[in-house]
Amino acid sequence: MIVILNNKCNLSKTEFIKYQEELKTINTEHEVVLCPTYLNINNCQLETIKIGAQNVSCTDNGAYTGEISARDLKDSGVKYTIVGHSERRKYQNESNYDINEKIKRLLENDITPILCIGETEDERNNGLVEYIINKQLSESLRGLLEEKIKKIIIAYEPIWSIGTGLIPDIDDIINVNNFIKKLYPNNQIIYGGSANENNIQNLKSKAIDGYLLGGLSLKPEKIKEFLDQL
Ligand code: PGA
Repeated sequence: MIVILNNKCNLSKTEFIKYQEELKTINTEHEVVLCPTYLNINNCQLETIKIGAQNVSCTDNGAYTGEISARDLKDSGVKYTIVGHSERRKYQNESNYDINEKIKRLLENDITPILCIGETEDERNNGLVEYIINKQLSESLRGLLEEKIKKIIIAYEPIWSIGTGLIPDIDDIINVNNFIKKLYPNNQIIYGGSANENNIQNLKSKAIDGYLLGGLSLKPEKIKEFLDQL
């Protein structure tokens, strides 16, 4: 199982250093990837936990003020990067076209993209889940060969579930994951959205290869409880 910790826009350098000491006490057979803020990437001193980023530039290095390239992430030890998180789609107007470019830059630099997809509550109520998932995947993966596509981790994150405490029925997650598997049989598929140490028993299935944790990523003691139940 792979478990991704997404710190989002949290933890100052001082807070991160204390947090990291607590993370170091985690002992698990599962693969754990920490995605801190860009600024904390170079503060990471973790041995068993791998480093990820929460975003990357569409472009390579150059005159792109405020951007961080995949090349520079790689040089800082980043092995994974989240792309297409619903918060970036919403607040930064990130499109599937942007996400496609980001995925290409990451793969050129041997960084594993974690591609987030998922439907809104309205889309779910209108029976559009498969349509939306298919559109997000086909547009984000346009022009990529299967040998590249299979390196990508697909994170199914229903938008209405992120940070709300609401989780889908496990059967609904399994149906979506099976739908994705039919389109992309060789990819790891993980689940994200309000997963925590209290509901993980309801979120376990052979169809789920791992989890993406937002809120819980800030609580090392609870992460331990979560990992112990996988
Ligand atoms: P959450 O966030 O676990 O706080 O719902 C998940 C995510 O944003 O990926």
